[in-house]
Amino acid sequence: MPPLSTETLAPDEGGIARAAALLEGGGLVALPTETVYGLGADARNGLAVARIFEAKGRPRFNPLIVHVASIQAAQRYVEWPEQADVLAGAFWPGPLTLVLPLRADAGLSPLVTAGLDTLAIRVPAHPLARRLLEVFGGPVAAPSANPSGRISPTTAAHVLAGLSGRIDAVLDGGPCPVGVESTIVGLSPRPALLRPGGLPSEAIEAALGEALAAHEDGAAPTAPGQLASHYAPNAGMRLNAETPREGEAFLGFGPGACDLNLSESGDLTEAAANLFGHLHQLDASGAKAIAVAPIPDRGLGRAINDRLRRAAAPRT
Ligand code: TXA
Ligand code: MG
Repeated sequence: MPPLSTETLAPDEGGIARAAALLEGGGLVALPTETVYGLGADARNGLAVARIFEAKGRPRFNPLIVHVASIQAAQRYVEWPEQADVLAGAFWPGPLTLVLPLRADAGLSPLVTAGLDTLAIRVPAHPLARRLLEVFGGPVAAPSANPSGRISPTTAAHVLAGLSGRIDAVLDGGPCPVGVESTIVGLSPRPALLRPGGLPSEAIEAALGEALAAHEDGAAPTAPGQLASHYAPNAGMRLNAETPREGEAFLGFGPGACDLNLSESGDLTEAAANLFGHLHQLDASGAKAIAVAPIPDRGLGRAINDRLRRAAAPRT
């Protein structure tokens, strides 16, 4: 495909209208969500969805998350068990994706679900994403707006650094407040954590009144967020480092000397919001290796450690 000239759209009604028109025409628009920037396309338009995979350089078709404006809109595409009501009622709009049985009359491109009979769906909380979904009025399929396998984008500048010339536009909503992708929960045969993310699993278990099953390998489709090597910077990564070695840039957590700190006060929410931006920044500094301080494995720390392990995994 010839290079596109990627438009940067302002976070106002004019920008929203342009973004909606591009989506209606089968275009690709990167949009801010509370978690990370998504690369959006009309989920009913197979050609538009195929362009997502082309732009990201995804090696194969993996199922995508569909974004809608409300619970009522979600119910047009998926079966709706009682536990969906409990979780959506408690946490939507917000950083929770539910995997539910796809309705036979959903009318989505089969590329969105990679041919599965389930659909991952969420109502994002970011005001610009919500407004765009309202004005567009349809379902938007959106993976994170980064080239496949690279660090997820939390600013419009990150999106442009990876995808300029490959997408129609980016709606610039500034930095994403949560900073890691949504938590993904499947509900059948019983509630299971498919990916830790921006909503702590402890909160989900409290709302359900039961423990989430761990994700069984092979129980869900292999998708990029579940591949061992993902979110990878150019630099090598070393985790749980108390101090840096010669030549390593040090990504800190809590008080102490370092090159960049995820959170000086040891706050996991702040650390999640800073994670991808700090990795982008250390990578851009040309560091050959990045050492990362230990992060507590609770609350948002579980999502942070999940992403760090994948960033550090041997590259395939
Ligand atoms: O926060 C987020 O979730 C961001 C923003 C843009 O909404 N999106 C995102 O999408 O992280 P992506 O494509 O990078 O990750 C989608 C993940 C896949 O890794 C896959 O594990 C899961 O969603 N997924 C999608 N459909 C599924 C299905 N039917 N069953 C199980 N997992 C599914
Ligand atoms: Mg992703």
